[in-house]
Amino acid sequence: MTMNATIIHDIQEIIRAHISWNYTQTLTKYSYIDQWAFDFIDFTQNPEYQWYQREIEILKNIWFSSLYNQIIDLGPWNGVKWSLLMQKMADTTQRYLAIDISNQMLTIAKNQQKKMTTSIDKQYIQSDFDDITTIQQYMEGSNFVMMLWNTITNSIDMITYLRNLYDICNEKDMVVIGVEIGNGENIQNLVKEYNTPENRVLTFSPLAYIWVPQHAWYIDIMFNRALHRIEEWFVFEEEIVIAKLSIPKWTKILLSVTNKPTLFQLIASIQGSWFTIDNTYNNQEQYILCLWK
Ligand SMILES: C[S@@+](CC[C@H](N)C(=O)[O-])C[C@H]1O[C@@H](n2cnc3c(N)ncnc32)[C@H](O)[C@@H]1O
Repeated sequence: MTMNATIIHDIQEIIRAHISWNYTQTLTKYSYIDQWAFDFIDFTQNPEYQWYQREIEILKNIWFSSLYNQIIDLGPWNGVKWSLLMQKMADTTQRYLAIDISNQMLTIAKNQQKKMTTSIDKQYIQSDFDDITTIQQYMEGSNFVMMLWNTITNSIDMITYLRNLYDICNEKDMVVIGVEIGNGENIQNLVKEYNTPENRVLTFSPLAYIWVPQHAWYIDIMFNRALHRIEEWFVFEEEIVIAKLSIPKWTKILLSVTNKPTLFQLIASIQGSWFTIDNTYNNQEQYILCLWK
């Protein structure tokens, strides 16, 4: 099966599970495929969208002095952040490996990084990093892992993912993760940010990818207080059949979750996954970059 056929199959399987009220997976990771990769980049370049710029500012001020055999970038997106670090780490890094489920994103990152001439060996692999056994094979010999800009917060079970990641890392590996935190007052503003036509297009895109027609449904965006996360629900207002899959009226699909841990919850989660915090950069009160060893 090609990767695209696998993606279509996996989206259908997630819908099938949601029909039976099993919401252990969401569709977020399929929001960056094909032309939606460009839509997503446009969306985040909007000056009102601050988080991306904030992380870049933090990264600009960090200096990594160790030697790295291999840096693994989980979800490189447009490749800009690694390009930024590459300028500082060119003499201390041997290999760079980007892993992304979206072939289009990998192409964009590759084109961005082509502009930088260094001796670092660069590789781009289309794969799903939720599948920890698959990424384990690439971890061999690596000692620096980056999961930037909130990617981890889209996991239904962030802590289990962190534990699994911990298990495949060596003790001295550096793991860098960016997290947008939720501190109560800002939550309603964050929900508003999700409630834009551009975000709806992106959130809906995994269903558009399997040809769900653009009618007879609505998207409900809410903050789940018990689980401290923003949830985007897709509700079918009429029965529909897609690729032999019959979707009953009022089926609810959990399109995406974005965990908004408080700083306290985040620190508790990190300790729950046995990483030791080396440094926490918190120069913006709602965004932190954790460096773990
Ligand atoms: C929110 S963007 C973050 C991009 C980048 N790390 C940054 O800091 O700018 C998420 C990226 O990770 C990729 N991605 C998300 N979930 C993935 C998964 N399970 N496996 C592989 N790639 C994934 C997406 O295609 C996208 O490029």
